[in-house]
Amino acid sequence: MEPIEWLDGKVKIIDQSCLPHRQVQLEFDRCEEVAQAIKTLRIRGAPLIGIAGAYGLALCAQNIAAVTRTEFLAELQRIAGVLASARPTAVNLTWAINRMLAAAQTKGDISSIRSALIAEAKAIHREEKEATRRLSRFGAELINDGFTVMTHCNAGALATGGYGTALGVIRAAREQGKNISVIATETRPLLQGARLTAWELMQEGIPVTLITDSMAGHFMSRQAVNCVITGADRIAANGDTANKIGTYSLAVLAKENKVPFYIAAPLSTVDRSVASGDGIPIEERNPEEVTHIQGIAVAAPGVRAANPAFDVTPHRYLSAIITELGIVRPPFRQNISTLFKTRLARSKGGASGRSQDRSHRGQRSLPDRRPE
Ligand code: MRU
Repeated sequence: MEPIEWLDGKVKIIDQSCLPHRQVQLEFDRCEEVAQAIKTLRIRGAPLIGIAGAYGLALCAQNIAAVTRTEFLAELQRIAGVLASARPTAVNLTWAINRMLAAAQTKGDISSIRSALIAEAKAIHREEKEATRRLSRFGAELINDGFTVMTHCNAGALATGGYGTALGVIRAAREQGKNISVIATETRPLLQGARLTAWELMQEGIPVTLITDSMAGHFMSRQAVNCVITGADRIAANGDTANKIGTYSLAVLAKENKVPFYIAAPLSTVDRSVASGDGIPIEERNPEEVTHIQGIAVAAPGVRAANPAFDVTPHRYLSAIITELGIVRPPFRQNISTLFKTRLARSKGGASGRSQDRSHRGQRSLPDRRPE
């Protein structure tokens, strides 16, 4: 399943708002269409909206009519701002857009900038996909044969470059021959768990039981859950994590019931410029998503409704954060910082993807093994 592709100068996506009942593909040749698809959750999930933002900027660069390099870059910057504001919580979007803007700066003429932006967007896509595969292999070490894993929202292939974070961990555990079953929360208001996660797992042949969000505590208290794994939209420097609304409640319930709670996310989701969860912007969406289900009114007309799309789970509720460089355990502030230093050292040492792959096999995680 390819949730997004760059094909002949167009961005092709699976329209996630139609799943699971209709499989619709859309093609965009204008950046505004990509921004609108991000806003309306036709494209969704933190890593995927980063990739989409990158392709969106590559698209817009093909259409900017400026004559000079300076005018071209100024227009690119303006459009980047519009794209970045499509969804404020997932930092992957700004991360990818900033990377694209930096790539544009390295070229001296408009034609080279256009080509460089396409190449950079493809590189972001490739690297993000590889990061999810790698973090999934690390995460699979936390999953024993016979485990039942609870997950929330959708952090599968659909939400990423094509493998998944929380669901990637589950897939990797299955690929290792472990017998795993999943409890998926439906994830009100927009039902990503019911519509997307349950569908994705069924496609993979992984046993899944769908529950309403309010059933989670019941199943945890009956020892029916071995661990909870979710994705993330932004992880602050101290490990506080923003993810789909309802994640915080699950984490508190997990702690109460002594169930390990894991976050699985690529490093593009870590925002070290934000010291704690207090600094993470929370997207407020249309209250109609709460008063209505799939366009059908369920609440009394005119009732006031609130609709924060994400919440913040304080790091004290997290057992570990699973990344492509390894499993990070508390103390998170120190160990996240060590992780980035490790990455910097590796990139200075010129480690290629292949050699990092080899080192992965024998190496569980640097911060995990050597906490500062
Ligand atoms: O509003 P959504 O559907 O984009 O929210 C998605 C989530 O909260 C995911 O858990 C998160 O982005 C991680 S996706 C790998």
